[in-house]
Amino acid sequence: MTDPITTRKDGDVLIITSNNPPVNALGAAVRQGLDRAVKEGLADDSVKAMVITCEGKTFFAGADITEFGKPMQEPGLPTLVDSIEASDKPIVAAIHGTALGGGCEVALACHYRIAVPSAKLGLPEVKLGILPGAGGTQRLPRVAGVEFALELATKGDPVPAAKAQAAGLVDRLAGEDSLAADAIAYAREVADARPLPRASEKPVSVEPGVFDAFRKTNAKRFRGYDAPAEIISVIEETASLPYAEGVQRERNGFMKLIMGVQSAAQRHIFFAERKASKIDGVAEDVQLRPIKRVGVIGAGTMGGGISMNFLSAGIPVTIVEMQQEALDRGTGTIRKNYEATAAKGRMKPEQVEQAMGLLTPTLKMEDLADCDLVIEAVYEEMGVKNDIFTKLDGICKPGAILASNTSYLDINEIASVTGRPQDVLGLHFFSPANVMKLLEVVRGDKTADDVLATAMALAKKIRKVAVVAGVCYGFIGNRMLMPRQVEAMKLLHEGATPEQVDRVHVEFGMPMGPFQMSDLAGVDIGWHRDPTRIENIRDALAAEGRWGQKKSAGFYDYDENRRPSNSPRVAEIIEDFRKKTGTPQHEITDEEIVERTLYTMVNEGALILEEGKAQRASDIDVVWIYGYGWPPYRGGPMFWADTVGLKTIVAGLEKHGFPVAKLLRDKAEKGERFN
Ligand code: 3HC
Repeated sequence: MTDPITTRKDGDVLIITSNNPPVNALGAAVRQGLDRAVKEGLADDSVKAMVITCEGKTFFAGADITEFGKPMQEPGLPTLVDSIEASDKPIVAAIHGTALGGGCEVALACHYRIAVPSAKLGLPEVKLGILPGAGGTQRLPRVAGVEFALELATKGDPVPAAKAQAAGLVDRLAGEDSLAADAIAYAREVADARPLPRASEKPVSVEPGVFDAFRKTNAKRFRGYDAPAEIISVIEETASLPYAEGVQRERNGFMKLIMGVQSAAQRHIFFAERKASKIDGVAEDVQLRPIKRVGVIGAGTMGGGISMNFLSAGIPVTIVEMQQEALDRGTGTIRKNYEATAAKGRMKPEQVEQAMGLLTPTLKMEDLADCDLVIEAVYEEMGVKNDIFTKLDGICKPGAILASNTSYLDINEIASVTGRPQDVLGLHFFSPANVMKLLEVVRGDKTADDVLATAMALAKKIRKVAVVAGVCYGFIGNRMLMPRQVEAMKLLHEGATPEQVDRVHVEFGMPMGPFQMSDLAGVDIGWHRDPTRIENIRDALAAEGRWGQKKSAGFYDYDENRRPSNSPRVAEIIEDFRKKTGTPQHEITDEEIVERTLYTMVNEGALILEEGKAQRASDIDVVWIYGYGWPPYRGGPMFWADTVGLKTIVAGLEKHGFPVAKLLRDKAEKGERFN
């Protein structure tokens, strides 16, 4: 293997360059090379200053995550950063791309930091369930203040170079195209500056009450997570300690977190998300179809949200409706959503106009003739969908990709009404489609490889996390939701309350429980609409017009601010239903709720895998994290099942008489895991 670290001299400046694609992760060879290069600079009397820089698309994007859990090869990152800082010749970090995690910590250990304006700096360790473990919790508060450090380290979102400069994390901005020259000039300028500015030697200044205020403001966001709480504690407890003691506390916190199940879960998700984009049986270099214009049929909530994804990515959209009024309403909503984003300062007014300028509203399906991709987003009825796809087949140009946003229906049947089933697939967006990160890409029996690969690449362009699903009722996500909702309802019949079931789910870490979700989505969704036919409690609620939040009454009562409260009327309806049906009652424990609503999801996930409707267990985890708000610190349902133990899951299912999926039983018997 070639050495990823090389050095060259420019007069009296030693330039240390890392070339470790794809992201210059700080693996053992990089750390060893950096250590060697700094020593070389120190030993060479003709060297007055050094520059550390990276080739390729980015400065060091962090520690090499693939090394976690393996024996650490020397020098470890904490040792390396300390020896960089200890250098008695100035070292300048020359930053482009993303200086993340250990990369940011290397930069912090350098005496000076220069960055191109497009660079971003951050401490995303928290997203992997860990904390910055190479001095980041110590040096960042010292150079940029406690509040900035808390923000960066607990939320994990990188900041642009200018913001980093305003905070003191970056000393100087370079020209976008002249980083190397500017960094060398900077190094020369500071070659004789003494004493060298060493972050670890600066004092930390702390305003009273800052930590408690920060905890309070972010309590909801950090709920359930170990890492943010530990990061705040480390910074708080060490603020008045010398660096050497502070860094020891940081080390202890790092070790505690990295050994924990949350970090394993969050690291699993990091790699799962990246693996999800790889399609089994499709060559990586398959020729993609160009997508220059997208058509969307239906300007309702879904169609509008879907369109926004493309408009925001600079891709023109033709949106079709049947009635002028619906079309106007739909385009009006898109504009309103953009304007709301602009009002929050997350978009410039001219960007709103730019996006809207790419939208062509029309009442004519024929206007879709020049689209490279058409997504149908009308209501869920096979007859209507078939009619649309028959028409599209006649209108669209050869090679255009025809997609349905159906949540449940059979893509093969939809494809079969066209003369080009190879060009048809499902693109299942999640509501609100402009916000939710997940996209289920549904592969029909005849979907061509290049069509699938084009959809996956396009998903990345519109910043979605895409997962390939096979054709089955509800695909991956909604199919697994079904047993959960069915069991939740049965639990109500048998003695639980909506509040209890929802509480168990929220305490587990879900954003809401099954009944809160029903109220949000609409209790009447999928209802047979016959108020005299009461087969379950949902029917009884729907018959009374308790359709959820939109009616201020569902499983809960809602005030004018949509704040829920327990409903005495719902308690009566439940009681009444139980009496009428004579359903035997028993005391329902929280454990039973977990076993019946969550173990059944795992079982369904196993069936999905068994039937080949998901490519891998980690894809199922990605679906639930990004589509339904499954808590990342539990790693998705299949990873979570691994942590519970598959034998325990099987026993729990059997206890309640559920048929156990063969794959799940086999794995449990062999002591295997899903992931
Ligand atoms: N270690 C190992 N591999 C990494 C990596 C890392 N830190 N970061 C990215 N990779 C790999 C990815 O797995 C992917 O591999 P693949 O091609 O085999 O799937 C490849 O690099 C490219 O990554 P992306 O697809 O994510 O590329 P993008 O261009 O979309 O994004 C990025 C680049 C913004 C740098 C993104 O990769 C990223 O956010 N990386 C993680 C950054 C991070 O979390 N750093 C902190 C690490 S922990 C740490 O530093 C601990 C320290 O405090 C002690």
